[in-house]
Amino acid sequence: MAVNKGQRPLIAANWKAHGDRHELSRWCEAVGTAPGNVDYLFLPPAVLLPMVQQLAPPFAWGGQDICPVEQGSHTGEVTAAMLLECGASHTLVGHSECRNLRADTDDRVAAKYAVAARAGLVPVLCVGETLAERESGHSEAVVSRQLAAVLATAPPPLPLVGAVLAYEPVWAIGTGCVASPAVVQQMHAALRRLWQSERGGESLRLLYGGSVKADNAAALACQPDVDGFLVGRASLVATEFLAIAKASIATTS
Ligand code: 13P
Repeated sequence: MAVNKGQRPLIAANWKAHGDRHELSRWCEAVGTAPGNVDYLFLPPAVLLPMVQQLAPPFAWGGQDICPVEQGSHTGEVTAAMLLECGASHTLVGHSECRNLRADTDDRVAAKYAVAARAGLVPVLCVGETLAERESGHSEAVVSRQLAAVLATAPPPLPLVGAVLAYEPVWAIGTGCVASPAVVQQMHAALRRLWQSERGGESLRLLYGGSVKADNAAALACQPDVDGFLVGRASLVATEFLAIAKASIATTS
């Protein structure tokens, strides 16, 4: 049964360290002619952003990460200004691969969130617990801590309106092991409660990420607190990505 959530689902494609110019142009063409009633967000590797801008597809694009300061001696980082120059409107912040592989602490993630929001980018804050944290019963405490760290440094004047939060349990990312709809709903509801207690009625879209595919998207999308997906591996294939979007529209409009 379709669930009316009052807003279009947001389906984001995180290509991580995959893709080249040929795949990019084919993908933009395929997704650009996709049916409406869904908002798309494309997150390719940063070096491909100028080409996305040139192709000017009819959907939003953004960075996979952002430098925690406006500019400076931060080798390898991409600043908010650089993303904006490529036409980006969003950036991921605090993806678990950045937290784990590049030592992003809660404080660093909060700094990235603030720098992005101040520059006018929509930060897509990623939170999620490890398997050990889940098994020891600390899932909600971990994601609450990750969100609270950002909220504590993002006072009201920052452009939090239209905020996007992604719940990405680390144990479900790239493993083929998807969180059950009940677990996703429970975690999303907890995150929304915390958001509302700090930010009142400000709009928030809650995405789920972690082994989302065409064949599990519908069951997840119809959960009341799931407003879209942050898709990794399956987003590389345009037809699979579009099938995920289609499943989301069918269950949420
Ligand atoms: P997978 O969909 O490949 O599990 O990746 C999820 C993710 O990390 C999206 O940001």
